[in-house]
Amino acid sequence: MQEQTGSYRNFEVHSSNKVFYNRDMQYRPFGKLDWQASALGFGAMRMPTVDNDPAHIDEEPAREMMRTAIDQGVNYVDTAFPYHREVGESFVGRALQDGYRQKVKLATKLPIWKVEQQSDFFRFLNIQLQRLDTEHIDFYLIHALDAERWEKTKRLRIMEAAERAQAEELIGHIGFSFHDEYSVFEQILHEYGGWEFCQIQYNFMDTEYQAGRRGLREASARGLAVIVMEPLKGGQIAAEPPQKVKPVLKQLGAERRTNGHVDLALKWVWDHPEVSLVLSGMSSMEQVQQNLASANESAALTFSTETHILFEQMREMYDSLRKVNCTGCGYCTPCPSGVNIPRVLRLYNDLYMYDDQQQPRRVYNYVLDAEERADQCTECGVCEEACPQHISIIESLKAAHALLSDTNPAEGSR
Ligand SMILES: NC(=O)c1ccc[n+]([C@@H]2O[C@H](COP(=O)([O-])OP(=O)(O)OC[C@H]3O[C@@H](n4cnc5c(N)ncnc54)[C@H](OP(=O)(O)O)[C@@H]3O)[C@@H](O)[C@H]2O)c1
Ligand code: SF4
Ligand code: SF4
Repeated sequence: MQEQTGSYRNFEVHSSNKVFYNRDMQYRPFGKLDWQASALGFGAMRMPTVDNDPAHIDEEPAREMMRTAIDQGVNYVDTAFPYHREVGESFVGRALQDGYRQKVKLATKLPIWKVEQQSDFFRFLNIQLQRLDTEHIDFYLIHALDAERWEKTKRLRIMEAAERAQAEELIGHIGFSFHDEYSVFEQILHEYGGWEFCQIQYNFMDTEYQAGRRGLREASARGLAVIVMEPLKGGQIAAEPPQKVKPVLKQLGAERRTNGHVDLALKWVWDHPEVSLVLSGMSSMEQVQQNLASANESAALTFSTETHILFEQMREMYDSLRKVNCTGCGYCTPCPSGVNIPRVLRLYNDLYMYDDQQQPRRVYNYVLDAEERADQCTECGVCEEACPQHISIIESLKAAHALLSDTNPAEGSR
């Protein structure tokens, strides 16, 4: 099917039916900058951890993953102040020792929600330079802007501080990452002329969500480099595909490789010429190797109309199955009452996505600690303020507990 749809330009199928892939990293223009970014960037938000503790990165395999990616041509590493409960930047600083810092552009972000006055900009930047063990951050973003945070950014004249830091060569290029509606995205682009790049959530499920396709095109038309985050919707579309979706994946030729559905989803993003770089938050060496292989074959404008229609069908199917739009980003954690919000919401979705309803219930009741379950929620609301997807977490947790808990009479009534 792939040859018929023209989905893949960069591979050859031999008579033995063996597929040979390109082995070299692809590089793409980066907005107006005189620099080319590797098609794949390394997102350091989902590193392997010890005992599932986000604050305890399993340093050796994590470092190997990052260095392997760099050795194979990745030239952009993305981190942020809060990642891995604020130990992520220090880990990245250590992982980029032994000459790796010089091989990549390094990006991190201002935690604008923690900023109370203009001078906080330099307070955070200095901490970050120290944690990252570097004198210069190549790409500095205002993190997770939405309408409210943008108003704060303007009120506290944060962009002036950013420009001062740029003049002092503490940071290279100024950008923002974004989680809100398109109109807010347009406003942010419009109201500050100094943006050189932006980072948006984009994948075949999110074409009309947040900045979406319109935002991608608008930013690119203004000369900004566009970095895509959550290309696999935080892993949601990398999970085992639901039965309903499988025939479409077959038509797309996904069965050609073990992770065919992931490969296709990433290539769908690269097919957009406006995309400069795709960040994936890989959590194992296998994922790094697979995504590098996909990046090596990536290209723009190779998908046919038929292929795009099949992706549309797949989006509609996922939309009809999914209950909550959680990307598992963990921004809502830690919950002061200990609820494992991303895990519970994932299990809640699993109930609707897959035929085996006992499995999510088993995990909820027997794998998750009692303290992590949804009924521990005291409805304090802290998580909802932090959620970039603006999910009604409290209500979703109640619904999840009603369906997942063994002790609940609603169990089995979905
Ligand atoms: N600025 C912001 O507001 C913001 C927000 C979100 C992300 N980001 C940045 O953008 C980066 C990318 O976003 P993301 O981490 O959400 O990317 P993503 O690629 O959509 O999701 C990453 C997850 O997808 C799964 N995955 C990746 N490659 C896979 C493969 N080959 N096979 C199977 N599963 C695979 C893994 O899930 P499992 O771990 O479940 O296996 C992994 O943790 C982040 O790491 C972070 O640096 C920024
Ligand atoms: S509302 Fe509930 S789940 Fe959210 S942070 Fe508060 S206690 Fe935790
Ligand atoms: S509920 Fe929101 S903040 Fe929490 S993991 Fe899901 S998308 Fe991220």
